[in-house]
Amino acid sequence: MKQQIADRISKNLENFFKEKGISPEINPTRPPDPSKGDYTLNLAMPLGKVLKKPPLLIAETIAEILAEDKKTFESVEAVKPGFINMRLANSFLEDQFDSFVSSPSLLEASKSETPKRVIVDYSSVNIAKQMHVGHLRSTIIGDVIARIIESLGDKVIAQNHLGDWGVPMAMVIRKAESAIDKAIAENQNPEDVLDTPMLEAFYKEATAECKSDPVEAAACHDYLIRLQNQEQKLIDYWQIIKKVSMRDVYKIYKLLGVRLEPENERGESFYADMLPEIVEKIQQKGLIEISDGAKCVFLDEFKAKDGTPLPVIIQKSDGGYNYATFDLTALHYRTNTLKADRIIYVTDARQALHFKQVFAVARKAGLVPEKVMLEHVTFGSILGEDNKPLKTRDGENVKLAELLDEAIKAAYQVVDDKNNTLPEEYKQQVAKMTGIGAVKYADMAQNRNNDYVFSFERMLALSGNTAPYLQYAHARICSIFRKTDFIPSDAKVIISAPEEKELILKAMEFPLTVKTVSEDLKPHTLCAYLYDLSTLFSSFYTNCRILDCENENQKHSRLALSRAIQRIIKKGLGLLGIEAPEEM
Ligand code: ARG
Repeated sequence: MKQQIADRISKNLENFFKEKGISPEINPTRPPDPSKGDYTLNLAMPLGKVLKKPPLLIAETIAEILAEDKKTFESVEAVKPGFINMRLANSFLEDQFDSFVSSPSLLEASKSETPKRVIVDYSSVNIAKQMHVGHLRSTIIGDVIARIIESLGDKVIAQNHLGDWGVPMAMVIRKAESAIDKAIAENQNPEDVLDTPMLEAFYKEATAECKSDPVEAAACHDYLIRLQNQEQKLIDYWQIIKKVSMRDVYKIYKLLGVRLEPENERGESFYADMLPEIVEKIQQKGLIEISDGAKCVFLDEFKAKDGTPLPVIIQKSDGGYNYATFDLTALHYRTNTLKADRIIYVTDARQALHFKQVFAVARKAGLVPEKVMLEHVTFGSILGEDNKPLKTRDGENVKLAELLDEAIKAAYQVVDDKNNTLPEEYKQQVAKMTGIGAVKYADMAQNRNNDYVFSFERMLALSGNTAPYLQYAHARICSIFRKTDFIPSDAKVIISAPEEKELILKAMEFPLTVKTVSEDLKPHTLCAYLYDLSTLFSSFYTNCRILDCENENQKHSRLALSRAIQRIIKKGLGLLGIEAPEEM
């Protein structure tokens, strides 16, 4: 919107500046009343310097020229010391709105000119461990970032960087081996015999035993070597374990409406064969120092509090590789093979140092060209009502599957209280959309770096900045259209009330809002926008008659406006991975 106005103004000023060879730089400052379509341009001040004339004089001259364009401006006024206040004309806004709603995606104005290849690394769960609330945030924030970037025309490649290699896997294989062999001997499918809680128990047992028993620790190490050498028998076990574990993970993705599929899986195991070559590349750059037998990179910018240099360990003294080595290798693969222009990692803030180090080493070692953008998207913790990280009563991590089931149950109550005349089957569908939507929305509605308190009551409230509020606003607009046969596809919106003007101005901020989120990767901006838009719609709905207007033209215009707002809310919720029921 700002750009369109700027273009229009520049055009008007073309003659004025032609002889002077100046292209005006438009610098909007605080307008008197943005809700009425007011703009203030601080254009005379910068020009005053160039033209060596009093800024007010320049402002007056420009204001006079602009005022002639009655189709764009309702009023234009020069004010001290050199600002130009202008109010956009309704006819201008109506035309702009018309072209905005004619874009099927509503996002035409923000589409990327040169589509980029963007990798989003998110969810990235660990095999043989149940997904807990900590993984929830990466999964839903990452999914939304992917949807938003994709909506503007870039190519998104989602990568699920599974923790599926190394010591933990060797330990689980050792423990699961006999159960798998037994199932096979009894002609059972081992995948039916195992489940994720069992695998998790194996891992816990093995960790405890390896700590207290050196014989067991040596045995696990032997398994690790065999796994790393890709001995067929171990790879077979490993595959079974991975399948069992991912089976549960996909159930949750499906419930959440997250679009990760097996083709997005590129776990640590995928990079196993490439690790030595990457270590070699880093070595060739002269970056490796041996410290306590381990290959390390020391960079000046990373020091502990006491000033001692912090190493990035590339290869341990026993030849094993570290978390960072896998990430360095993945970075090389992502830029060289997947040809990424931008790579985004979504994990909690505790991994901030890890990614800073990995990015720095990758740049120094030439694994990633300078022009590739590397970004770490961090987030805070989910807290319980006691303001401590969310745990069950017995101190365990809360399991995601249970939490989501509970959310759907609580949402059913809300839906049923609101409208118990809906058919039972439909109520259950809406409960799912609302329950899951509420959990996702509550996670995204505030700055992701803040911790937030998980509360069903708050996230399911029908008022305030919540998913059910937006879903209800959407359903209410849909209900208007159930009462009329009119299809507003080609009716033009004509402004006749202040509520309409305010709503139109807000509506047209949609593409820019989405663009902003695609750049700063903060979905809460889109949530706040949709909430403001719904609130403005609500005051339009309260103060302006829609179906029983004074005349047909006004009715058609208001229905067209309502339809546009419904489309934006639905599209906006869709970008947040949330469904919009038509009836509630
Ligand atoms: N599996 C890791 C964890 O659960 C997250 C991986 C994030 N992605 C990455 N490329 N390091 O902590």
